[in-house]
Amino acid sequence: MSPFFAFSPLRSGVTDFGASFSGGGVARVGQRTAFGWLPAGVNSSPRISDVASGIRNMALEIIILAAGMGKRMQSDLPKVLHPIGGKPMLQHLIDNTRQVNAARIHIVIGTGGEQVRSALAADDINWVIQSEQLGTGHAALQALPACDPANDVLILLGDAPLVQSGTMRSLLDLGADLALLTVRVPDPTGYGRITRADNGTVRSIVEQGDVTEQENLIDEINTGVMAARASDFLRWLDDVTPDNAQREYQLTDVVRIAAAGGESVQSFVAADPAEVAGVNDRVKLAESERVFQRWVARDLMLAGASLADPARIDVRGKLTVGRDVEIDVNCVFEGEVHLASGVRVMANCCISDSSIGEGSVVKPNSVVDGAVVESGCSVGPFARLRPGAHLEDQVAIGNFVEVKKSHVGRGTKASHLAYLGDATIGRDVNIGAGTITCNYDGVNKHPTTIGDDVFVGTNTSLVAPVTISDGSTIAAGSTITRNVAENALALGRARQVQKSNWPRPVKKS
Ligand code: UD1
Ligand code: CA
Repeated sequence: MSPFFAFSPLRSGVTDFGASFSGGGVARVGQRTAFGWLPAGVNSSPRISDVASGIRNMALEIIILAAGMGKRMQSDLPKVLHPIGGKPMLQHLIDNTRQVNAARIHIVIGTGGEQVRSALAADDINWVIQSEQLGTGHAALQALPACDPANDVLILLGDAPLVQSGTMRSLLDLGADLALLTVRVPDPTGYGRITRADNGTVRSIVEQGDVTEQENLIDEINTGVMAARASDFLRWLDDVTPDNAQREYQLTDVVRIAAAGGESVQSFVAADPAEVAGVNDRVKLAESERVFQRWVARDLMLAGASLADPARIDVRGKLTVGRDVEIDVNCVFEGEVHLASGVRVMANCCISDSSIGEGSVVKPNSVVDGAVVESGCSVGPFARLRPGAHLEDQVAIGNFVEVKKSHVGRGTKASHLAYLGDATIGRDVNIGAGTITCNYDGVNKHPTTIGDDVFVGTNTSLVAPVTISDGSTIAAGSTITRNVAENALALGRARQVQKSNWPRPVKKS
């Protein structure tokens, strides 16, 4: 009996299938011709199924190993929930795997994995619990029994989140008994090294703790991504022992076992180490974040945005752009943001969950959150649009103006120092500096309604609820507590008092 059977109660894992899986098991994967691809010197006899069909055409299942807490992150948050580009690492991987049309996705989580599961909640994922972290081989073994033995299985590591679907596809297309994604890196320290036979075929993976002095120099490493038939993985894993420096059941051992058994082990060497990098600590997390942001910046440029510096933009969510968009340095975009054609975002702006219409300009140091800005508007510098702010065309919101849950009509201007909250403002209104909608009585919020062509003089308090009708004028310095009629002038301030020849006090000696 192999040592693995000591864990036989765990072997079936705790599986919890949702009612349905996307993909429906129709994926055509891993075209394995019986002979053509075999490298010289590799002894592999074709299987009966291969001979019968000539081409293998099974469904694909994905297993993502994500049960480790990630000690090296020094965090209470499970490693795979740490975000890259505002999205949990594991979610990146799930999204990427969805593009290869897998019949099913299994994710191995630890006992504390509830947090992971609820954060990612997708009802087509089979969550498998590995109650003790005994190694990557042991982790894979928790999910494999839930796979159709005849299916191909692509195993991924939850902490190597940026692997792209095209790379997964290339690996599957190798059609090997065991296909391995490797990469050459300048500093291989800490990773499993790929050892090859004299004829170049992969022989084994040696983990850092077990390398000889010579193997330590090998710069081709294991990315952790591999593919084989489910029944083959199970067969190879039966022979894996914790006979290594880590005392773990290591998935990487299947390479040695398969190669020694004369089965074809082929590698696909990834072109870009950044894509397949494993995130073990926050230093690597930051590196992967930069890699991801470079990709996003590139996509934005190809979509029609000019970036003053592609290295100084951060997108944590989804940013879509029209043509001839200009984005200056140090802008942060969060959630879903759309910048229509001709939009200009100047330096140091934070824009989240908003859409900015054609030709509008967001001037430096502005914060726009949950707002709709239509065309030809000017926002900032130093403006703040809060959730529910809606600016129609040609609106100008200037420095130190805050707009919250307010609709601002076409051509209206609030150029300096104002607070507009819970307000409905008409067209071509002038909001003077220092205008405040006093919307809050300490308990409830109240609305302010301002018609078209209203002129609100500077330093005006509009005590809500209040309505200022079309064409009216509010004198500077007014406190307006009652509705103002159309075309009226409202003054709400103390009359100026004047004392002639008034003796100014002098300092007593
Ligand atoms: C692993 C590989 C190494 C490879 C490197 C690439 C093994 C033995 N080593 O090393 O060859 O170069 O990735 O980044 O596979 N996990 C479980 N259950 C466990 C142990 C791990 O689910 O019992 C999960 C972890 O959550 C993680 C992944 O497997 O997502 C990899 O585990 P980790 O401990 O980070 O392996 P590395 O030391 O990075
Ligand atoms: Ca790792």
